[in-house]
Amino acid sequence: MAPLSLVLSVRAGDPSRLSSPLLAIALPSDKPLPRSLGALDRVLSGALSRAIRQKDFKGARDETLLILNANRGPQRVLLVGLGAAPEITAMTRAASLAGRKANAMGVQRMAFWADALDGTALENAAIGLSLGSWEYRDLKTMPPVRERSKPLLEAIIFVASVRGAAHALAAGVAVAEGQRVARRLAIMPGNLCTPAHLAATARDIAKRHKLKVTVFGRKEMTRLKMGSFLAVAQGTPQDPKFIILEYRGGGRGEAPICLVGKGLCFDSGGISIKPADRMEWMKFDMSGAAGVLGAMEAIARMKLKINVIGLVGSTTNMPSGTAMNPGDVVRAINGKTIEIINTDAEGRMVLADVLSYAARFKPQAVVDAATLTGACVVALGNTATGVLGNDQSTIDEVLAAGKRGGEPGWQLPMWNEYKEQIKSDVADIKNIGGRGAGTTTAALFLAEFAEGYSWVHLDIAGTAYTESDLVVIPRGPTGVPVRTFVEFVRGRAR
Ligand code: BES
Ligand code: MN
Ligand code: ZN
Repeated sequence: MAPLSLVLSVRAGDPSRLSSPLLAIALPSDKPLPRSLGALDRVLSGALSRAIRQKDFKGARDETLLILNANRGPQRVLLVGLGAAPEITAMTRAASLAGRKANAMGVQRMAFWADALDGTALENAAIGLSLGSWEYRDLKTMPPVRERSKPLLEAIIFVASVRGAAHALAAGVAVAEGQRVARRLAIMPGNLCTPAHLAATARDIAKRHKLKVTVFGRKEMTRLKMGSFLAVAQGTPQDPKFIILEYRGGGRGEAPICLVGKGLCFDSGGISIKPADRMEWMKFDMSGAAGVLGAMEAIARMKLKINVIGLVGSTTNMPSGTAMNPGDVVRAINGKTIEIINTDAEGRMVLADVLSYAARFKPQAVVDAATLTGACVVALGNTATGVLGNDQSTIDEVLAAGKRGGEPGWQLPMWNEYKEQIKSDVADIKNIGGRGAGTTTAALFLAEFAEGYSWVHLDIAGTAYTESDLVVIPRGPTGVPVRTFVEFVRGRAR
């Protein structure tokens, strides 16, 4: 099933002539009205210049002002602030807010204008409109047709010139569709978004873009001796899935990039069970996997000239008579033994086997994303992704990619001193490191399995979804880390 999408297109010319239910105009703060909006201002009987002169609208970040128009031209004009000295990602934010308002108004069609839109700014506008207008309605009983609020279906972006705009628009649409795939999977309840559903989604992506897909279940993983992943999966009757999606856009012998995702379709904590309060949020514990699948969708749409392999480890973490117990020792695929101190530190156990397996592809780099630690949310909140790894130049590349994509990351240390915390009395390593530096000790655990290649770990526990409304995006999944993945891969493509 192809994702239901917002149809985006570009157009050059004067927005004053457009007859549309809504025209959104993005303006920077405290600047005079751009000359190119003169005609629109006249159609609106001077409402734009007046709003700016009277300071009804100052162009601050997240500021909006709705102007109703009785004349010819757009029926409504929504001014959206870009803020002072806007960074390139301010465009994503303003467009997202515009898309969100348009969707809430139920206008179905809109247009978006910002001064001299092209290239990256155009791409960001397209991504923003899609981000903001996205909604998950599948499980709501529909009111009668007449009372139904209409979703936003179509957005036109005004560009400086349509020549050369096609490429930027296509890139924006590719990323936007990737984010839609990821957000949908992330928000779906655990009884619908199961490991089998993630596998079916991977198969669907593979089919639409002609990629190779491999899905291993419990049987195959047992044969592979993935003892760490299987320990997590032993408490659930659902078949765990190890999913491998191969996109070959590069040369035949070229080393691929591996993108790895944690896919816990529900994390109850297992025998070390979590408190009931807000446990329902743990359906999002497959956001890393959703990010990998979303990025593969975007990369395949963009036809990037590079080889990329998506690897997803998916299961649920449940308490049961067959579940793993604290004190158990298991052996990962790379031969290392792990003492399980806390069954709620399951993501790193799944990733241990998947990261070890990734070495078989002789990758040029591996980037994993996981909602791995509550400690990361404490340290960085919803604003920054935790970034750690074993190779500084690749870490810098990923940090730069996140910055370009408006998904900032912040590096945390991987110093040897912290390794003391995960030494085990009985096994090679233990799966938790005590109270302090939880994000670092989790990453140091992963590092024991991410051997033989350059590796970066993204702890997206705080950034992949939000439990509070973020103004431009509602409560729920954010689309992180799709753009970071895509920007990183793009940066290395030919
Ligand atoms: N999926 C959770 C991490 C998490 C917690 C993400 C809260 C988002 C919000 C992970 O599997 C987990 O339970 N981690 C434990 C590790 C601990 C047992 C060392 C945690 O962070 O509490
Ligand atoms: Mn857990
Ligand atoms: Zn988890």
